[in-house]
Order: sequence, then C-alpha cells, then structure tokens
Amino acid sequence: MNDIIVSPSILSADFANLEAEIKKIKDFGASWVHVDVMDGHFVPNITIGVPVVKSIRMVTDLKLDVHLMIENPEKYIEPFALSGSDIITFHYEASKEKTEEIIRLIKSFGKKAGLSVKPKTDINLIRKYLPELDLLLLMTVEPGFSGQSFIKEGVDKIKDIDLSLYPNLLVEVDGGINRETGKICKALGVKVLVAGNYVFKSDNMKEAIANLRE
Ligand code: DX5
Ligand code: ZN
Repeated sequence: MNDIIVSPSILSADFANLEAEIKKIKDFGASWVHVDVMDGHFVPNITIGVPVVKSIRMVTDLKLDVHLMIENPEKYIEPFALSGSDIITFHYEASKEKTEEIIRLIKSFGKKAGLSVKPKTDINLIRKYLPELDLLLLMTVEPGFSGQSFIKEGVDKIKDIDLSLYPNLLVEVDGGINRETGKICKALGVKVLVAGNYVFKSDNMKEAIANLRE
C-alpha cells in the first residue's frame, strides 16, 4: 500500500444517482470525494453549491474535498464549512491579498485549508502561505470544465518548492488526470489525485482508481 489519495470529481458523475456513485468510489478505494463548486464568474460554468454538499455529507463518510472556483470566496467559507466540508480549497487568483485571512477563517471552523493556483500562475506568489496551508491544489487544466487535457506546466512548478520544508502540506493535482499523467505527478511528490472523467466515465471504475493509487 502506498499513501496516494484518490479524490474522484463528482462533476463527471451521474447527478441523478450521486449516492450510488459515491458508494462505488468508496468500495473501489477512493478516500476523498472532490466537489467542484463553480459560480459562473470566476469560471465560465455553473455547477453545484451548499445544498448538494449537505446532501452528500448525509450519505458518505468519505472526506469532502470542496474546490471553490468562485469570486469572493471569503463570503462562502462559513456555509461550506457548516455544510460538512472537510477540506475547503479556494483560488489565489480570487483571494489575492485576502488569502491569509481566508486560510485563518477556514481553520477557525476546524476545517483543512487548501489554496489553488491555475496552470499559469507563478508559484512564488503563494510561497509565503505554504507553512499555514494543509493542501496546495495545482490545477493542471484551466478551471471550468471536466474532460480537458492535462497541462504539465501546472504541476512542473512544484519543482521550485522544497517540499521537505512543509511536512504537513499535501499537494493535490486536478485536471486531465489519468494513469499516465497521474504517474508524472506522483513522481514529483503529489499525494492527492483528483480525477473526473478518468474515473466516472471509465468502463471499469475499480481498475481506474487502482491505476491511480498504484
Ligand atoms: C476543473 C475541475 C476538475 C475537473 C476534473 O475545473 O476543477 O475537478 O472536474 O475533471 P477531469 O479529471 O475530467 O479533467
Ligand atoms: Zn476541481
């Protein structure tokens, strides 16, 4: 057993059967569920919000890995925390000088705090927050849609960070992750793989999750 965490993105799941879909990924070895929240402003797409997180919380004990792709994330931390999220991740491109305050706010609810950067965002802009963070989410597609192709530049920037300085930081990647691209990320020290299409659109979900964990 290794310590790779698979966090399937329910954006690619069958929304009419979410409970069954989540049960399947749990049986097949996923330990987190990735929930993509989009507001139609930060990204050109609208997905799901607090009521869905609440409902999922009632049917699973998997960790809820909530990825906020929204403007003004500070306004929505409380409702997402109270709805049963375990990890709340927001975007540096949306938080800028409010980043530190939002990290503290998430932690004040006893939740794990994650910060995400888009593929082209300079990693040096967020270096100072790393000691406070539980999770760094490196986007390997432009956020907004599932089913896009992996952008290697998004994860390559991790080479500029000495991960041994942050023993409690988990690095997660999101976008275009499959067996091959997952391998590239794991070799760079990534511990959490988000995958939407590769897991939920697979003919063999069990094998897909096993391939990511190997
Ligand atoms: C993209 C989302 C991703 C996406 C992943 O904005 O944050 O989580 O749903 O989907 P795949 O794995 O299909 O690229
Ligand atoms: Zn995501």
